[in-house]
Amino acid sequence: MQAGLKAAQAQCPPGQRLALAGPKDFDALAAISAEAAAFVGLDVFGLQDAAFFASIRERGAVILQILRHDIPEGYSVVGPAAQMAGLFAGEDDKGLLFGTALRAGLRGQGWQRRMIRLRCAALFAAGFGGAKAFVSPWNHASLTNLLGDGFAVVSHDFSYYQRHRFIVERPAKGWGALGAGETQALTLPPDGDLEDHRHLLASGWRGMDMARPQMLYRR
Ligand SMILES: CC(C)(COP(=O)(O)OP(=O)(O)OC[C@H]1O[C@@H](n2cnc3c(N)ncnc32)[C@H](O)[C@@H]1OP(=O)(O)O)[C@@H](O)C(=O)NCCC(=O)NCCS
Repeated sequence: MQAGLKAAQAQCPPGQRLALAGPKDFDALAAISAEAAAFVGLDVFGLQDAAFFASIRERGAVILQILRHDIPEGYSVVGPAAQMAGLFAGEDDKGLLFGTALRAGLRGQGWQRRMIRLRCAALFAAGFGGAKAFVSPWNHASLTNLLGDGFAVVSHDFSYYQRHRFIVERPAKGWGALGAGETQALTLPPDGDLEDHRHLLASGWRGMDMARPQMLYRR
């Protein structure tokens, strides 16, 4: 992670930098989480408080903070999937990206894409065979960023914050031939029907591209 951090510093917008976060920073990160959750709604982004950050750090998560003029205005988390969520208990070779959250002033500068790339590179360099993340079907901006960086929607789940979530995944070696076959476009919620998406996912289709408000499935 340290090597990746060093490389990423060079791509930070002026006045901004990345640093590892520890317990003294958790209250500030919790305040950022609260602002982000209020911005998109609790259905889309669950609250992450100081106790949450302490708990995931205990279990091996790395918490990155984004500072602007030395004040934390964003964060992003990565950790071993099997230790981060009971749902992935058997998946020791996967890492989990946690939601990136930004204060309003940091948005629109490519931070989510930058953090997706940094965390995936760190996971794959450490030998993990894939990266996973939860993302709300209503969070079209995040889906665009994740699918744009090699992730695909592989399933639907309701255990994370007891809200609808797509599970997205990116194998370290990429998706190979998947995507060369049939395609099918489905409109995303709120206008589309989540049941249609669940049906396609259960039948082995993978959501691989965004054409808002639609997602393009392939198999
Ligand atoms: C998701 C998030 C991290 C993306 O940040 P980002 O890297 O700046 O992303 P992008 O530049 O791709 O822009 C994402 C959205 O923010 C909007 N945005 C850009 N600049 C903005 C600003 N200054 N103020 C408010 N919104 C802004 C963009 O219009 C875009 O929305 P749209 O695609 O619906 O038009 C950020 O929006 C956020 O903190 N959201 C709340 C928490 C969250 O949903 N986390 C992700 C969980 S998977």
